[in-house]
Amino acid sequence: MSRLILDSSNPPEPGQVVWRSPSNIALVKYWGKHGIQLPRNPSLSLTLAASYTDTQLEYEMRDGPDDGLIELDFLFQEEENEAFRAKVLEFITGLLPTMPFLKQLKLTVNTGNSFPHSAGIASSASGMSALALCLCSLEDRFFGTLQDPQAFDQKSSVLARLGSGSACRSIFPHAALWGATNDVPGSSDEFAVPMGDQIHETFKDFHDDILIVSREEKPVSSRAGHALMEGNPYAEPRYAQARSRLANLLEAMGTGDLPVFGKIVENEALTLHALMMCSNPSYTLLRPDSLAIIEKVRQYRADTGHQVYFTLDAGPNVHLLYPGELVVDIRKFIDDHLVEHCEGGFVQQDWVGEGPEEV
Ligand code: DP6
Repeated sequence: MSRLILDSSNPPEPGQVVWRSPSNIALVKYWGKHGIQLPRNPSLSLTLAASYTDTQLEYEMRDGPDDGLIELDFLFQEEENEAFRAKVLEFITGLLPTMPFLKQLKLTVNTGNSFPHSAGIASSASGMSALALCLCSLEDRFFGTLQDPQAFDQKSSVLARLGSGSACRSIFPHAALWGATNDVPGSSDEFAVPMGDQIHETFKDFHDDILIVSREEKPVSSRAGHALMEGNPYAEPRYAQARSRLANLLEAMGTGDLPVFGKIVENEALTLHALMMCSNPSYTLLRPDSLAIIEKVRQYRADTGHQVYFTLDAGPNVHLLYPGELVVDIRKFIDDHLVEHCEGGFVQQDWVGEGPEEV
């Protein structure tokens, strides 16, 4: 690959790019990785709409000789944040071998989320995908290397993956798959691929209301959780299970078979937490209120026949998944019976969205 270096005798004018990128919710979970952010099994997610990160990347040419360092100012919700800055710095440093122009610039990242930071909603998928999109826009603006929209999306997904695995799926509208599988031609461990065309219309008008059971920071990070899979006695059967579930879920999502969808998705969520509980050391992220919600959802489904299902990410919060036609009933169910299990009564209403946009 040609090295992407700016001509310092003809420096670009200072400028900026801005991207808004959403979070996503995994249906088949990515849990376990190897090498440089490569997944142990393929995963499939729905792209969300209301939970997103806005990232503005300002740049200007640095003066002085190349000292190999990255010049980065970082603001989160208009304030300096050293922990986030260090994460972004580590991410950009890792990109320098293929994007050396980044150290020729003074960069200012100004980023913020549509949801309160303390809400216990993971922001790495939206945050890292927004930043990856900004960096690809920069590359294309300077070198014209990503003119083809598919190439742009693919590289954005690769960069997002290097920042946080699940972030690579946020690049695409409606649904995305990450990880090589014979079931999906063109799939890869390096980047996600769009799946919007493979799913029934039902899933394009689909809701994900996130019940915030706890706003506390998780006692075990996702990074540490992935690492614990390496010694987990169930790891290999789990990876095989994820592959077969993926095939079954894709079929159900193609035909719009909600009961089969729900059965797979709920079992996936509980499998993720079972893997945490049988890790060494073992840990538990589910709270009593998470389990109370799960029981109530099962009972409500039995009583009403409504197609509402739960999933979980690596935390205590419960995601309620259901088709748009049920929104009035489900929101009432949440208000009447589930809000009491949410910290501060907080529910983040979300739904399947159209993917990132340049703003
Ligand atoms: C449980 O993508 O947060 O949400 O690659 O270490 O940043 P890193 O992990 P991360 O893991 C997400 C795990 C999950 C399942 C999923 O989103 O597929």
